[in-house]
Amino acid sequence: MPLLDFHRGRRLRTSPALREMVRENEVRPQDLVMCYFVAETEDPDFRKPISSMPGQYQLSLDQLERQVAGAVKNGLRSCLLFGIPAEKDEVGSQAYAEDGIVQQAIRRLKTNWPELIVIADTCLCEYTSHGHCGIVSSKGEIKNDPTLDLLARAAVAQAKAGADIIAPSDMMDGRVAAIRAALDEAGFINTPIMSYSVKYASGFYGPFREAAEGAPKFGDRTTYQMDPANGREGLREAAADLDEGADIIMVKPGMPYLDMVRMLRDNFDAPVAAYQVSGEYSMIKAAAQNGWLDEKTVVMESLVAFKRAGADLIISYFTEDVLKTLNG
Ligand code: PBG
Repeated sequence: MPLLDFHRGRRLRTSPALREMVRENEVRPQDLVMCYFVAETEDPDFRKPISSMPGQYQLSLDQLERQVAGAVKNGLRSCLLFGIPAEKDEVGSQAYAEDGIVQQAIRRLKTNWPELIVIADTCLCEYTSHGHCGIVSSKGEIKNDPTLDLLARAAVAQAKAGADIIAPSDMMDGRVAAIRAALDEAGFINTPIMSYSVKYASGFYGPFREAAEGAPKFGDRTTYQMDPANGREGLREAAADLDEGADIIMVKPGMPYLDMVRMLRDNFDAPVAAYQVSGEYSMIKAAAQNGWLDEKTVVMESLVAFKRAGADLIISYFTEDVLKTLNG
């Protein structure tokens, strides 16, 4: 064979040690956030499987505590809480009630594990009878400005309960400004806001709507969540949120929107979060249960892809499993 001059990329792949030495990205326990659904129930043993999300449950406060205890032993650093109230109403009042279920859960977790970073999802859809993220007008429109005050009240209630980070997921305009002002006024100047800045009107939230019982009873979320066809618009959303005082900006869903993670990483200095949503979890689980994919392999691959795209932190329903894997 004549002497050919070509690139030998395989040289650096010859052994596990060499591959590790040149590895560019890594998923670390401190990057990962686990999601929990906490239900308001009289039954302390309540632990209801979410059929479209095998391995995930709606949990009573006691069950949540048990679940988190196990996860913390495996190295859990942070979790994101969603609430399922016993009663819903037009204005989602349980979202900002002092004894709302998420507020109770935050107090419980922070009492047990002061060092655990407890993130509160701030939205109305789990608490409203109509299932929308904002106030609904008589014409069925989702009203922006009247919703802001309720979101701000929810954020303050969560911060009072001890939430470490407030994460507004409603996609109303101006909510970061409203929440920042309310938090500051209530004395929570050091409570960061992680904004769901680039949040799409996505079909990948399907299983979540079973999990959190928050599906809209009419219409959809397309007048407030972003059009999946748009990329540049995400830059405007993220810039606005940062301008209004967001500390961390998020892209959601995750895997189909890795371009947006990269775009935010390249355009802003703030930490970027990626949310691997319920539908992404369910797809991997379903394929794995059929024997079509190797679960551990694709889960690690999907998470390192977020890091490669530029995410600092990753919200994933696989967090507990991954912590076990990382611990060997
Ligand atoms: C609340 C909220 C949703 C999700 C997170 N917060 C539902 C929605 O916007 O419709 C979805 C999370 C997931 O699918 O895992 N607004």
